[in-house]
Amino acid sequence: MFQITSAAAALAGAITVIAQSAALPANCDRSYTVKLGDTCDIISATQNVSTYQLAAVNTGIIDPECANLYEGELICLGITGQDCNVTYVMQSGDTCSSIAAAAGIPVSTFLTNNPNVNPICTNIYPDEVFCTASQIYVNLTSTE
Ligand SMILES: *[C@@H]1O[C@H](CO)[C@@H](O)[C@H](O)[C@H]1NC(C)=O
Ligand SMILES: *[C@@H]1O[C@H](CO)[C@@H](O)[C@H](O)[C@H]1NC(C)=O
Ligand SMILES: *[C@@H]1O[C@H](CO)[C@@H](O)[C@H](O)[C@H]1NC(C)=O
Repeated sequence: MFQITSAAAALAGAITVIAQSAALPANCDRSYTVKLGDTCDIISATQNVSTYQLAAVNTGIIDPECANLYEGELICLGITGQDCNVTYVMQSGDTCSSIAAAAGIPVSTFLTNNPNVNPICTNIYPDEVFCTASQIYVNLTSTE
């Protein structure tokens, strides 16, 4: 939702001279270099990574508001074995039930793979990106 402004990008460019990107996790199986104008939603939509997964993989690197991306930043998109790349970009009017039905998966699978969505599905927004895989990728009890 947040865009890199030219001023922020210029500042970020200056900062990258002295601060290198954080190293990617050793078990990262997909990475991406941030482009000017990217937002987390844009990256999620174009790279097939859910909003939840992008945030979870980059905890402590991308802030919760996704306001600190910078051009040229190298980020990880998925961790081996937990990398859902079957995704759907929410359109206005979609519900968890309609998204799950269109993907041919139970709502419970949808909610398990997208733990940022509340159980009554009242906190989703257009352009949010969801994992719609039939396989379970998110295991909150055995991860963080
Ligand atoms: C995203 O997934 C679609 C199919 O759903 C595929 O056509 C496209 O190449 C994928 N993009 C990336 C960057 O993997
Ligand atoms: C998802 O990842 C698998 C395994 O790497 C790959 O075979 C498949 O093509 C990917 N699907 C998309 C839509 O990118
Ligand atoms: C989730 O937990 C189950 C049971 O502990 C395990 O078998 C599975 O591999 C885990 N999946 C992931 C993606 O970590």
